[in-house]
Amino acid sequence: MSERVKHPSAAILLVGGRGTRLAPLTDRTPKPMLPVGGVPFTLHQVLQARAAGVNRLVMATSYLAEVFEPYFGDGSRFDMEISYAVEEVALGTGGGIKNAAAHLEIDGDAPVVIFNGDVLSAHDLKAQMDFHRTRDADVTLYLTQVEDARAYGVVPTNSEGWVEAFLEKMENPITNQINAGCYIFKRSVIDEIESNRVVSVERETFPTLLQEGKRVQGFVDNGYWRDIGTPAALIAASADLVTGKFASAATKPSNSKSGLGFIDESAKVAENARIDAGSVVLAGAQVGQNCTILSSIVGVGAKIDDGVKIESAFVAPESRITLDNCRGEVLGF
Ligand code: GDD
Ligand code: MG
Repeated sequence: MSERVKHPSAAILLVGGRGTRLAPLTDRTPKPMLPVGGVPFTLHQVLQARAAGVNRLVMATSYLAEVFEPYFGDGSRFDMEISYAVEEVALGTGGGIKNAAAHLEIDGDAPVVIFNGDVLSAHDLKAQMDFHRTRDADVTLYLTQVEDARAYGVVPTNSEGWVEAFLEKMENPITNQINAGCYIFKRSVIDEIESNRVVSVERETFPTLLQEGKRVQGFVDNGYWRDIGTPAALIAASADLVTGKFASAATKPSNSKSGLGFIDESAKVAENARIDAGSVVLAGAQVGQNCTILSSIVGVGAKIDDGVKIESAFVAPESRITLDNCRGEVLGF
């Protein structure tokens, strides 16, 4: 069909969550637009999706929806087509997928890639797409192993890789294999999700599909994976990007040999300040004499007084850190 030729590889990026675990940083900036590795987090996902062949992307937005379009525009600078589906009232992950899919002009068997908007991973999306196609699955879930699965969707599979259950946030996980937050759906399966109501893809859609005997399979990839939804994970992901431990086309790694972090050209950093290789100092920020900044993100326009030492912190944009408050809540965490 002609529309299939137009959009051979369509995707939806879920970026409408409230980001509560990252408050107060998410009071004015939605989680996907927080700087990670020196750039808004979503940029890493957009460039990775493009590199894997995605040429049509719908951002499913709700909370602070208005900030995405000014940054990503119509997608032409990424050689892709980007549009924005806004939920006036957040519809949950399933409702968000359904609402965004209305933007995609593709037929029923065509695959749609769905990304959680807060996952940094090295997984091979092309291989996941091939696996989806060759086994004629209805849904193919990217799965990974973690030490503690309690905060995630627990997903046991059988010996052939078909999903046996989807158990969102179990107190006593029955396996450490989890939903890593990237799904491929047949378009027709998305069409079955109810419109205009809150639906959780994890708590409702996946269990229902399994009950109905749909072909839901796991694509296991145990490479680099992080959900950046907590302060510690976001800061660690940023350090991984600037040190080059995780390679992203959106971040130029700092020169770890000289021990210098990633410093924006417009930032003012005293010559004797020490910024370690895992840190980022953003536009217009100031770092005073004898400061030590370790594994931290210094937000846009923040000012750090002489002699301050910070470690594993996200200094809120435009905030001022003094010797008195450098252990206080102004750091964000
Ligand atoms: N459009 C839209 N609307 N997006 C939403 C909504 C909504 O109402 N609610 C959440 N999202 C987006 C978030 O912005 C995020 O990108 C994604 O959906 C997942 O939401 P989180 O709040 O980050 O969920 P989680 O981390 O607790 O759990 C999810 O991710 C884990 C992997 O990181 C689940 O999918 C788990 O099963 C999974 O293991
Ligand atoms: Mg998350």
